[in-house]
This record gives sequence, structure tokens and C-alpha cells, in this order.
Amino acid sequence: MSGRRGAGAPWRRRRPLRTRLALAASAAVALVAVGVCSAAFVIIRYAMGHQLELNLTQSATLVMQQNRDTGPGTVAAECRYLSAPACSQIVPADPAADPSGTYALPVTDAAREVAAGRRAPYFSAVTVHGHPARMLVQHFKDGTAVQVALRADTVEKGVRQAAGMLAAVGGAGVLLAAALGYWVSRTGLSPVARLTAAAERIAATRDAAHRIELPAGPPGREDELTRLAASFNTMLGELEQSVAAQRRLVADASHELRTPLTALRTNAELLARADRLTDAQRDRASAALGRQLREVTTLVNDLIELARDEEPQPLVEQVRAAALLEHAVAAARGHWPETGFTVRTAPGTEALTVPGVPARLARLLSNLLDNAAKFSPPGGPVEAELTAPPGALEITVRDHGPGIADEDLPHVFDRFYRAQAARTLPGSGLGLAMARQIARAHHAALAAERAPGGGALFRLRFPRDRTGLPPAGTE
Ligand SMILES: Nc1ncnc2c1ncn2[C@@H]1O[C@H](COP(=O)(O)OP(=O)(O)O)[C@@H](O)[C@H]1O
Ligand SMILES: [Mg+2]
Repeated sequence: MSGRRGAGAPWRRRRPLRTRLALAASAAVALVAVGVCSAAFVIIRYAMGHQLELNLTQSATLVMQQNRDTGPGTVAAECRYLSAPACSQIVPADPAADPSGTYALPVTDAAREVAAGRRAPYFSAVTVHGHPARMLVQHFKDGTAVQVALRADTVEKGVRQAAGMLAAVGGAGVLLAAALGYWVSRTGLSPVARLTAAAERIAATRDAAHRIELPAGPPGREDELTRLAASFNTMLGELEQSVAAQRRLVADASHELRTPLTALRTNAELLARADRLTDAQRDRASAALGRQLREVTTLVNDLIELARDEEPQPLVEQVRAAALLEHAVAAARGHWPETGFTVRTAPGTEALTVPGVPARLARLLSNLLDNAAKFSPPGGPVEAELTAPPGALEITVRDHGPGIADEDLPHVFDRFYRAQAARTLPGSGLGLAMARQIARAHHAALAAERAPGGGALFRLRFPRDRTGLPPAGTE
């Protein structure tokens, strides 16, 4: 919980994901709406201005066609309102040639230059009778220019109206975007909300049996959230299993501890009344007490060992298999002086290594060797062998005891499992469980077999890609 609170701190200051998504979606759509409206406005203004200039050009052409023989002066009868037909006049290059009356449109030096043919035709903004207008000045015949003008304020009004309408449309677009953003975030995030709710429920109840409901659909076509929920469910399943396994271990352990602890207490109580016992009885009781204490100690140590997880990476090193085996057998000889241990390393395997934690691998081997000695007839031989069959590196431990019955073979690696015949011998039934756990942590396989000719055979197999062997096919 504390970890969650720590990790949650930077999040709490931010808005909820739903709000952020709604804001982002609305902002994106709004930006597009505003952008489109602005672009439309620019295009409309340009198109209307362009249309006006086209009209002016056409009017100028018409005026020139209709006034081939007319001299300088105002051509149109009505220039007060500047409505179609355009107000037009003909201007000479030389002001001395001007007619006596005044012009309707302003005559500038630039217009005279166009008349003289020294300047290209041009458009300009003018004010005529108080109206804003657009004027075209273009060269005409023999040293004259034609000037035509049309009102520009109608165009400006149209542009203003278009701007107003576009602003209204854009505003509506922004509002719609906000609504859409809200809707998108609501519907888009509802599976996330369900996922969050499920995770929070599990965190609150600590019950890993919860599962997130997955929407029914064709398999292989799920969306990301469904896949996330599915992997979340898988994770929950594994969590549930590991919690159940831990519970089982604790239950089994307390059950297994009960018997030796009861025997211990009985003997301890017996010794408390030592004054009423004969010397022989006292010796027996104290010997039993010592043995039971050792058993409980072994059991507890094995349990601690079993509860360990993966091998800690920093301790992993390249272990020479031959040396490891020699070492383990030497230790077993110390524990079981009567047993005849033999070691054989196949030629070419002396230098081969496996990645692992030496102490743990030694523990694995000593479990196998102890079992072999324990179940062998007194003085019976135990053979340990290191070989390199194709694709692997193998260590086998074989004894000549009673072997393992077929019905026991599938169970010998279970925790606390001991075959009927083994229950009179000391042991906890945890040794092989631990051995297999160590093997798995080293990516190796550990299996039990019935040896040909009697006895048990344990086979520890490291796959080739984890050993110092050359790759397959180079032998
Ligand atoms: N070498 C062996 N020969 C015969 N039976 C064996 C041998 N090794 C293991 N077993 C059987 O597997 C069981 C589990 O072994 P293990 O986990 O080491 O427990 P423990 O040695 O404490 O009994 C033993 O109780 C025994 O029944
Ligand atoms: Mg054992």
C-alpha cells in the first residue's frame, strides 16, 4: 500500500485521464475547425477581390471597344454611385490635352505614365463620392489611358458577412468538438475504468481470485485493452497459484513439524522427571531428544532452503562440472564412510562448465548422494558419473538399493513425499523437492529412474546451450 501511495503522488496532481483525453480530443477538433474556417475566410476574401478585378478588366475592355473614337474625358454618364456599368474615363498622357470639365475619377501621375505607355496597367484603391472603390488604369490608344472603377464596399461587406458566418460555424464546431471529446473519452475509456475498478477491488480485498470480464469476440481480433485485460487475468491466475502454493507449503510444513515436535516434547517432559528414571532410560531419552532436535533442525533448514526463489544473479559463475562432482562425492564420503562412492568422468568432460551458483549445485548433488547412501545396503556401491551425451551435459547418481517403486516414481519430487519403505529412515521428504527446485533455477532437468539391474538412478541434465560444450554438429 505504501508503495502505491508513493507512486501515486505525482499522479494525483494531474487531472484524471478521462478529463485529459476529453480536453486533448476537443482541442484537436477545435483547432481543426478554427483552422478550416480561417482558411475559408482567406480564400473567400481573395476570390471576391479577384472577381472584382476581373469585372474591372472586362469593363475596361468594353469601354475601349465602345469608345474607339472618343477623346479624353469622362465616358460614363453616372459615376455618383459607381454601380455597373463601371464609372470610366479616358485620360491623356499630357495634362495640356485634358478636356475643359473635371474628371469623375482621380487622375494621378501614375495614370499619366500608363497613358504614355511607360507603366504597366495597375489596380488601386480610391474613394469616389465618399465610396471606397477599386480602380483599373490601363493603356488605351494614342497616348491615352482608360480608367474604370467599381464600388469595393459591396465586396468588403460580403467578406464581412462571410467572416461572421464562418465565425459562427467555427464556434459551433468548437462546441461540437468539446461534446465529441467528452463522448470519446467516456466511451473510449470505459474499459480502462472497468480495468481500474477490478484492480482496485483486488487491491482492497487482496483476493487474487477476481477476474476481469472480457468482451466476447472473435479470438485474435481483440483490441489492446482486451489484450491488456487478458494478460492482467493471466497474471492474476499466476498470483493466485503462487499464493495457493505458499499456503500449501506453510500448511504442509506445520503439519510435518507437529509430529517431531510432539515427540520432542514427550522426551523433554520425560527428562524433566529424570530422578525417577533409570540411567539407561535417561540415556535413551536424551539420545532420542538429540536425534529429534537434529531432525527438526534439518526440516526447518530444508524449509528455509525451499522457500528461496530464483538464484541471485551476482552469485552465478561458470562452474566446472567435474570439480563440482568430485567435491560433492568427497563430502558424501565424509558423511557415509561405509559407502563405496565411485566417480567417473567421461573423457573430454573435465573442462566443461555450467553457469550456476556452486554452493546450490553442491547442495543438489549432496541430496542425491545422501539418498543413494541412505537407501543402499550397508557398504553398497554408489556410482556418480559425468557424461556429455549429444546436446547436453549429464550427471547421474546410481545406487544398488531397493530402487523406487513404479507407483512412487511420479511423486518422489513432491514436498514431504516419502515412500512407505522410507518412513522408518531419517529424513523429511524435502530433499528431492529442493533438488528439483535448484535444478529448475539452473535451467536443468532432474529425473528419477529405475536403474537396469536394480537400484535407483537420478539424472541431472544441463541443456547444451547453457554449457561450455561446442554447438551441436561440430563433434
Ligand atoms: N536412492 C533412492 N533409492 C530409493 N528411494 C529413494 C532414493 N532417493 C529417494 N528415494 C525416495 O524418494 C523419497 C523422497 O526423497 P527425499 O526427498 O530425499 O526425502 P528423504 O530423503 O528425506 O526421505 C524418499 O523418501 C524415498 O522414498
Ligand atoms: Mg533425502
